[in-house]
Amino acid sequence: MSTPALELSGLKKSFGKAEIIRGIDLSIGKSERHAIIGPNGAGKSTLFNLITARFQPTAGTVKLHGEDLIGLEPFQINRKGLSRSFQITNIFPKMTVFENVRCALLWSQGYKYSFWNLVNRSRDLTEGAEAILEQINLTERRNLPAGTLSYAEQRALEIGITIAGGADVIMLDEPTAGMSHSETDYITDLIMKVTEGKTLIMVEHDMGVVFGLADRISVLVYGEIIATGKPEEVRGDPKVQEAYLGAALEAEH
Ligand SMILES: Nc1ncnc2c1ncn2[C@@H]1O[C@H](COP(=O)(O)OP(=O)(O)O)[C@@H](O)[C@H]1O
Ligand SMILES: [Mg+2]
Repeated sequence: MSTPALELSGLKKSFGKAEIIRGIDLSIGKSERHAIIGPNGAGKSTLFNLITARFQPTAGTVKLHGEDLIGLEPFQINRKGLSRSFQITNIFPKMTVFENVRCALLWSQGYKYSFWNLVNRSRDLTEGAEAILEQINLTERRNLPAGTLSYAEQRALEIGITIAGGADVIMLDEPTAGMSHSETDYITDLIMKVTEGKTLIMVEHDMGVVFGLADRISVLVYGEIIATGKPEEVRGDPKVQEAYLGAALEAEH
């Protein structure tokens, strides 16, 4: 079996006395689309923050392509090919759409190109940013301040920022939160398109999106994964029905 893209072992996180992540083991394969679902406060965003080193775990390990990430800084992890979006909107509203993407590219490249001459570097960044704008369908909006885009466009821009560095593992935290049905469909299609061939790990509350997009699903409840499997396996799991899914599916109707 090939090395998983991401492997979590015995991962735990406490804030003070409260144990929020209570021992998570999970392997996510290369090019897998993996959804993490669970009720509010289950620890989904905390888990993302542990994987990307925003938080240090209380115990356990995180491996990216077999390499231990514990002790690395978030930017170092990003440069190893893992990139994430945040649950809250995370763009520079006064900068143009183009500059937001260009800035993300520049940041993700760090000092890698420090020996290049500045002209080449600048051209390279411009072309890279233009390619991303095409992918997220924002070419025509490139010179507008990002803050003037519609909500769905801002989320698309964030997805562009997340993929800008060429990461092969993409983590999205509730990318369709607060969207209408048509916006959700639009963003879901966009996510499918821009993460083609990459590993995708996504926190998502919309069950339509989850069941349409995920190869496998993990259900997180009170800091523990109570089930992991293919959508139909998870849907039929009585534990999941009891703890979460029954209520969530009913809420859809
Ligand atoms: N920095 C923090 N300090 C203390 N408690 C936190 C912190 N971050 C998250 N929590 C707590 O961890 C729990 C899980 O939160 P979160 O991971 O945001 O859940 P989810 O994303 O599944 O809704 C919540 O009870 C939240 O209050
Ligand atoms: Mg969250």
